Amino acid sequence: MGRLAQTKCFEQTKDDVMAKPLRDGTGPRHVAIIMDGNGRWATNRGRPRLFGHHAGAKRVREVVEACPDVGVKYLTIFAFSTENWKRTQVEVAGLMSLFRRYIAKETRALRDRNVRVRFIGDRVRLDAKLIQLMDDLEKITEECTGTNLTIALNYGGRDEVTRATRRLAQDVYDGKLDPASVDEETLPKYLDTHVLPDPDLVVRTSGEARISNFLLWQSAYAEYEFIDTLWPDFTAEEFARLINGYGARDRRFGGVNA
Ligand code: FPP
Repeated sequence: MGRLAQTKCFEQTKDDVMAKPLRDGTGPRHVAIIMDGNGRWATNRGRPRLFGHHAGAKRVREVVEACPDVGVKYLTIFAFSTENWKRTQVEVAGLMSLFRRYIAKETRALRDRNVRVRFIGDRVRLDAKLIQLMDDLEKITEECTGTNLTIALNYGGRDEVTRATRRLAQDVYDGKLDPASVDEETLPKYLDTHVLPDPDLVVRTSGEARISNFLLWQSAYAEYEFIDTLWPDFTAEEFARLINGYGARDRRFGGVNA
């Protein structure tokens, strides 16, 4: 039994209808999270923004560990967007340093917890040391069969579709792809997420109700949860509540249910 399964929240809800998705598999298989609010969390405490990012990193571990308890097989988190380079040089450098330290520190624990890690996004602007750590983490966890953790780093949905389109166009140019055969199944094969299922549930913390260029193609039929909690305050219990709430939703994908 995982840590969350031993908590009060899970004990309280285990036998009532709210816990149904946890038991019968009607919960989301793939949850994607926009982890927002680190800066405000730190400012509220009179601390520099990076203090909030460090607190946010601790929450990543807690949520990853909770995934097996709540039946989430795929977790995708938005760590750094293609637009985040507009932040101050101090914040960008601090975030890059945090990513390097996080990966170096968590690699063994992630492998021991059977978590397979992948990165999505464009690596070209990232420094060589960080890219090496990302490659190593992907390699070290590639045999893991538990939770699939995907970290979006220098990721933007439009950038991803643009890069995918460029590769697709190159294949047409090289005679490997017939333009007449291009359908809705074609482009996803060129996306960074080509091995992942589409997200069922997209969560954004901190009270902002926008998707900020996250998984634009993949989220066409996702359910959304915009919650007020700032990311460093997000807990495994709140995660479990969202998973349970999802089970009550009626997903029709444009059709009608009997
Ligand atoms: C958005 O909050 C958050 C980010 C741009 C960074 C997310 C990074 C982490 C949670 C750190 C750890 C991640 C990993 C994978 C180790 P914000 O700074 O925009 O908050 P604000 O809207 O309150 O300013």
